[in-house]
Order: sequence, then C-alpha cells, then structure tokens
Amino acid sequence: MSDRIRRRIDVLCRELERHNRLYYLEDAPELSDADYDRLFRELHELEATHPELRRPDSPALRVGAPPDDGFAEVHHQVPMLSLDNAMNNEDMRAFDERIRRELGDEEVAVTYVGEPKLDGAGVELIYERGVLRVGATRGDGRVGEDVTANLRKSASIPLSLKTDSPARVSVRGEVTLPIARFVRLNRARLARGQEPFANPRNAAAGALRQLHDHDVHRLRALEFRAYALGEGVPTGVTTQSEILEQLAAWGFHVGDDWEICADADAVIAFHEKTLAGRNDRAIETDGTVIKVDRLDQQAELGSLSRSPRWAIAFKFPAQREHTIVEDIFASVGRTGALTPVAKLQPIRVGGVTVSNASLHNQDEVDRKDVRVGDTVVIQRAGDVIPQVVNVVTKKRPKRTRRFRLPKRCPVCQSETVRLEGEAVTRCPNLDCPAQLKNNLRHLGSRAALDVEGLGEKLIDQLVEQRLVVRLSDVFALSEKLLLELERMGAKSVENLLASIERAKHTTLSRFLVALGIQHVGGTVADLLSERFGDLDPLLAADRELLEAIEGVGPTIAEAVVTFFADERNAAEVTRLRELGGGWEIQTPRVASEGPLAGKTFVLTGSLADLTRAEAKARIQDSGGKVTASVSKKTDYVVAGTDPGSKLAKAREFKLEVIDEARLIELLESPAEH
Ligand code: IVH
Repeated sequence: MSDRIRRRIDVLCRELERHNRLYYLEDAPELSDADYDRLFRELHELEATHPELRRPDSPALRVGAPPDDGFAEVHHQVPMLSLDNAMNNEDMRAFDERIRRELGDEEVAVTYVGEPKLDGAGVELIYERGVLRVGATRGDGRVGEDVTANLRKSASIPLSLKTDSPARVSVRGEVTLPIARFVRLNRARLARGQEPFANPRNAAAGALRQLHDHDVHRLRALEFRAYALGEGVPTGVTTQSEILEQLAAWGFHVGDDWEICADADAVIAFHEKTLAGRNDRAIETDGTVIKVDRLDQQAELGSLSRSPRWAIAFKFPAQREHTIVEDIFASVGRTGALTPVAKLQPIRVGGVTVSNASLHNQDEVDRKDVRVGDTVVIQRAGDVIPQVVNVVTKKRPKRTRRFRLPKRCPVCQSETVRLEGEAVTRCPNLDCPAQLKNNLRHLGSRAALDVEGLGEKLIDQLVEQRLVVRLSDVFALSEKLLLELERMGAKSVENLLASIERAKHTTLSRFLVALGIQHVGGTVADLLSERFGDLDPLLAADRELLEAIEGVGPTIAEAVVTFFADERNAAEVTRLRELGGGWEIQTPRVASEGPLAGKTFVLTGSLADLTRAEAKARIQDSGGKVTASVSKKTDYVVAGTDPGSKLAKAREFKLEVIDEARLIELLESPAEH
C-alpha cells in the first residue's frame, strides 16, 4: 500500500515539476490551470495523510510560511562579495590594464565575460544532492537570513536540479520583480493608499522578508537569475562562461544576454549595447558586470576583503538626479481625480528630459513632504513615470509651506471631495470642463469611437467656448459653427464631420468604452457586450448579474451600476443613442479588408509597446477580430509578459502563439497570412 502511494507521490512530484518548468521556464504549458491544480491537490492530500513519504524536493513545499519568530541566520561558506565600480570607459580600461599587469605581463591574453548587472537582491541557494535545502539573503556578505520558505514560492527557482551535480552546490544570483509587475504592484499600492516601492529591488527584497506570507503572488512572480557558483564547481568546468552554461543546464534562468569579450574594446562595445537595450528589458539593470573568464586566472588574481580583483561592475549613467520643484499644481483627470504634479526645473535623467513628476495623491505629498522650492531627487525606474524619491531637506529654502490639494477644483471651482478610506481627492462635477475635455479626448480615441480630427486644440476651443457642454454635443456639431473656429478650414471641417458620421456606426463594445465608465476599457467592454448583446439589458443589469461574468469583479460591477444609475449619465446615453441615429449594436466594427481580414486574435499578458486597447484597435483596423477568450476558432494568441491561463489554453488547442514584435509585423505587412 505505502509502496503504491510512494510511487504515486514520485510520479506527482516529477509531473508537477515538469509542468512548472514548462509553464514558467519554457513558456510552453501542456496542462490547463484546473488540471494542474488537481494534480497539486492530490499530492498535497497524499502528503498530509502520509507525512513520512513527503519528499524533500516536493513541489508542495512551494506553499508554506516562514517561521513566526523571524528568520534564522545562514553563514555563507564562501563570502558573498560585492563589486568594485567602473563609472566610465577610462575606469574600464584601467581595470583591464591592471588585470593584465597582475597576471604577468601586459601582452597576456585575457578574455572577459560581460553580463548585465541585475538590480535586485543578491541571494544564495544551497542544493544538496540536487535538492534545494536553503535559500538565504546576502546579508552583510558573511551572514544572511534564511528565507527558504519565501524563495521556494518563486516560480523561477528550481526545487531540484535538472541534471547531475556535485553533492553540495551553492548557486548565487539576483532576485528581482519584473518591471511590468513592479509597475502594476505600485499602481495597486497607490490605489490602496500605500506607499509605492522606489524600485523593483526594494519590492523584491520586501517580498522576501515577508514573515506571514501576505503576498504570495508577489513571491511567485519573483524572478531569480543565476550568475555564479559559491561552492560546487563541477570538475571539467574551467571558465565563468561554462559556469553560466552549467547553471542553465541545471534549470536556472541565466538569460542569453551575456557575451564573451576578447578584450577591453569588446567589453566597451558589449556595455554600450547593453545600455542601449536597457529600457527594453523585462528586468531592471543598472550596469554590466565584467568578469575574467578563466577560473584559474580568477584564483591567481584573488580577492580583497570586500570585492574580487577579477570582476568589476561597469555602471550605467545614473537614472537619479537632483532638481528643483518650481511649482506644485493639481491636474484634473477624466474621472475627476485631482493629481498633485510637481513642475520641475527640467533635468535629463537616464537620457530623457523630465519636467513634471506625479506626486500621486495627498498622502504621498504628506509622506514625502514635497514643497515648492525644494531640491528633490528624481528617478526613473525602468520605463516608469519619473518619481520624486525624496526631498533634500538640508537644501530647503526658508519660509516654505506644506502643499495641500485645493478645496476647490482648479478648473470648475466645485468643492472637491475625498471619500473616507480613499486615497483620491475628486472633483465631483461631471460637467467640469477638465473632465469633459478628457472625456472628449477619450471618446475620440482609437480604442473608443476613433474620431479623426478631434484633437487637443479643437477640444479646448469646443469646451472653452461652451459649444460642447456634454459628450453628446459632439454629434450635434454643425458645419457653420465649426467653420467659425480657429484653424478650421472647409476641408478640415468636412473631414471631421465625415469622421463623426462614421463614428456613429460602431459596436456596443466601443460605445461602452467611449462612455468613459471607470474600469471599463476594451477588454471589459467586450465581456459586457458579449454577455448582453445590446445596451438595454446591460442598463437593466444589477451587480449580481454583472459579477457573474468571468473577468468582472465587484469593483467593475459597482462602477457600471453607479454610472448608469446617475441620472445625468442615463440622459447622456439616451441622447447619444438618439443622435447616433441608432447604433449598429453587435455589428463588429471590423474592416472587411486589410492584412488580417478574417483572422481572430486573443490578447493575453501585458504588451510593451502597445496598450491592449491600441493593439485591439489596430488589429480591427487591419480587418482582424479580437475576442476575449480562446477557442478552436482563434487564429493567433498574442502573449505579452505575465500571460494568463489563456496561454495554457492556447497550447492545449495547439494554436499559434505570437509575441508583440510578430503582431506588429503582421499589422504592417501587406501580405495575406
Ligand atoms: S557577480 C564576487 N554578477 O551586484 C562576484 N553580481 O554590486 C559578485 N549583481 O553583490 C557577484 N548582477 O548582488 C555578479 N551578473 C552579475 C550581477 C551581480 C547583479 C549584484 C550582486 C553583487 C552586486 C555588486
């Protein structure tokens, strides 16, 4: 009996780890989420009833919490050193000259390995007989903390090594949160009124040191990249490049962006290439690490107490700079949210000129206490909007005042409100010109009604001259009126009116997007239009009915119901329908011609260059169709970073999965596919 169970446990462990690998490392899942969960539960139950049969490398160990009384100490057998820095090419050449001098004579051939320097938290993983035993933080380099329970949850950390290994191996690498995850995490934190993390490194380090396992999703998303071995260099491995290959063979993420560099010139070229690609990476990097390739030469060069003499961190130019806050003003968004924005003395940060930085909300302003006249540290983390990291209080001029968001909307003077428990201060006036302008911009955007010619300048004039006081007025604009506006000639008026006319024939989904309901973008609008087919049943729907739709949670349901319950909104919807002369509801606004005619797409995960709405609009403009869920009829599944279960389903149906670059190729190619 127990033999049969043991065998079943073995099979389950092997299978689950294989599926973990397929899903996370190879991006080629074979199982649906539900089937995976079934296997997982079976293993978990068997282990619970037969604890003596639990294997030390059981995938079920990925669940479980760290000890309640803090983290135990881990003594690193081989110290985890830091690195000396090179700030520019001269420093780099000096490093190369020193290496060659110390190795005997300056003519000696030294080959280097160049790797991206990952901006995360250093960790060490100890494997005994191929099984993960301990995962520890770097700490002070000699003693770190035992964060095994948390590290096990990271999907990119193998619980056992894929191929043979020495009896004891210590793998070193960096743990970080991919930039896209980091951005989402910060957005969610701000919405909850929590302080955002300054960078992905802090977000990762914070996750690792969670004692109570609050944020399992963040732990799961942590990305571990391996780059060194402390102990356990296999016999026959004689160079750093072979170590990297060995690590990849064991199942670690190593990345394919390292290179062997024959000399200092090659190192500099590698560094420049890596710098140029900095903002395209999924993971934050802050430089390159240059290492002498041959391990015997490394040993000959030796180490100082703090850093090895055979490696150097070649830093990227700072993404952090100091500048002065010239003003702080409140900007009013589409939903009436007042965002405090710091107007900065323009400054170049990481190759981009920054002149504004969002301070997010009143709580953030209070926390950082940013004042007009302050010198502040500005940072761009990855491709994130510039942030004010902190104030240099020493440099604060006399007689500054704390900033408070205004009690009245700066645009329409309505009294602003901040609901209890919310971080956001809002202008409650739905007719506020600032909201109206933003709503008009939104209505005309490609993802909504795609009104060509409804640009910023025109919107300003329409709203300021009160020619448009509510959204639906756009559909009542006359030629005569438009001709009187600045920069509106006969041709542009004709084009605009034609485009407005076209926009009247749209789909329910685009119509819903155009209304600007909070939380209702293209994907949710598709779900709603698929579920209800027409506007009237949607108007009649209550929260419960809405929440029953997969992909619609309580927040969205609440937003939809609240929107339509507002009399003014309801009146607007009626008027929009009347003026639109009847919406061609359910007739997808699909171009019948174009390179993607007849093709059906599903989008999953976040894309780098296009927003989802843009991707969708462009596919539709090229004749393609975008649906919310994968079926056998789907032609292409476009997978971005962090794809969801749709990707697993796509693999199940053996559909063609493409990335964003390929999608753009398809959109731009004239040929049939
Ligand atoms: S090698 C003794 N390689 O940067 C060798 N470190 O500023 C030291 N780091 O403590 C580690 N990417 O946490 C190495 N490709 C890479 C790295 C890397 C990031 C971190 C590591 C180190 C710190 C030094």
